[in-house]
Amino acid sequence: MHSINGITKGTELEKTVNAAAQAEANGVMIYYALARLAHEQGLDDVSEKFIWIANQEAVHAGFYAVLNGKYPSDFWDFLENFQRGEENAENSLLPLAEKISEMGHPEVADVIKKFAAQEKNHGVILGEIMKQYRK
Ligand SMILES: [Fe+2]
Ligand SMILES: [Fe+2]
Repeated sequence: MHSINGITKGTELEKTVNAAAQAEANGVMIYYALARLAHEQGLDDVSEKFIWIANQEAVHAGFYAVLNGKYPSDFWDFLENFQRGEENAENSLLPLAEKISEMGHPEVADVIKKFAAQEKNHGVILGEIMKQYRK
């Protein structure tokens, strides 16, 4: 497949495309936050629409990042580093969960613990991908 990685890097469009990538990534956060708030208020249909939009924004963010060549086409070394972050995410998330639990929000702590386990699983999946496909 023809690569579009970095076609705007070093051009007059780099700043604009970077701003677009950041705005889209921020949009993912905003729409998922609003989805949660809508859900809290019983607006589940609204929540689902925000999530639908957020997932499109996530695709957009990745696309603009590629136009600017934010990550190398030969991404294996990058992925290896990134995997370590996923594997170690619980080092910061579990203490966070503990503190939030102490603040009187054990149910919030449980969510963060679940997310920490998901991060670890991302690391496991990345490890399997590297083992199977990295040359
Ligand atoms: Fe978008
Ligand atoms: Fe992750």
